[in-house]
Amino acid sequence: MTEYRHNGKLITFEGCEGVGKSTQIRLLGEYFEQRGIDALFTREPGGTEVSERIRELLKDDDLDMCAETELLLFEAARYENTRRIIIPALEAGKIVVVDRYIDSTTAYQSFGRGLDRETVEKLNRYATAGVKIDLTVFLDAPPFANTTRGADDRMENAGAEFHDRVYEGYGKIGEDEERFVFVPTLGDKYATNARIIKLLEDRGII
Ligand code: TMP
Repeated sequence: MTEYRHNGKLITFEGCEGVGKSTQIRLLGEYFEQRGIDALFTREPGGTEVSERIRELLKDDDLDMCAETELLLFEAARYENTRRIIIPALEAGKIVVVDRYIDSTTAYQSFGRGLDRETVEKLNRYATAGVKIDLTVFLDAPPFANTTRGADDRMENAGAEFHDRVYEGYGKIGEDEERFVFVPTLGDKYATNARIIKLLEDRGII
């Protein structure tokens, strides 16, 4: 597997449905902008036209698919985003912030759908093309919001038990990963934002 040499930093955001991930990413973006910090923001599945189209398939509540197909589609979207968007930005020395990355796949497709964890992690490694994550911010709150949103979103509508398994899964993923930091997110959004900024400073990312 290729090892990339670059001065960039890769930060991933993870969390269950409706825990305020988008808000925290937006607040961090505003902070970077105020400070003139060169960063690239992307999301998964998404980031390129192909990946955004795969995202539509994955979210379409009218479609039914095998869990394995779902896994491979998330990984396909990831490879495109990693190769075409994330790696070039890291090589240009940028901070790259990804809204969901490999831990989402382990949490949702392995713990949630019940697919073999080793297989999922092997595919995660393949789809990330050898890129290393510097920090994962896990916004730690139970998935209480998923059922109230009532969106016509195939993943959000996977059921309360599914989303509980995802939350438990994140807890287990975080146990063995030094890069993975649990950030409680039920309080004031600005306090959470300040905590994340401090974390980035402590880890030498900014
Ligand atoms: P979101 O970006 O709006 O959170 O939507 C992405 C949805 O897809 C969300 O329900 C989490 C899910 N997901 C997976 O199941 N596996 C993955 O690998 C990724 C990136 C997302």
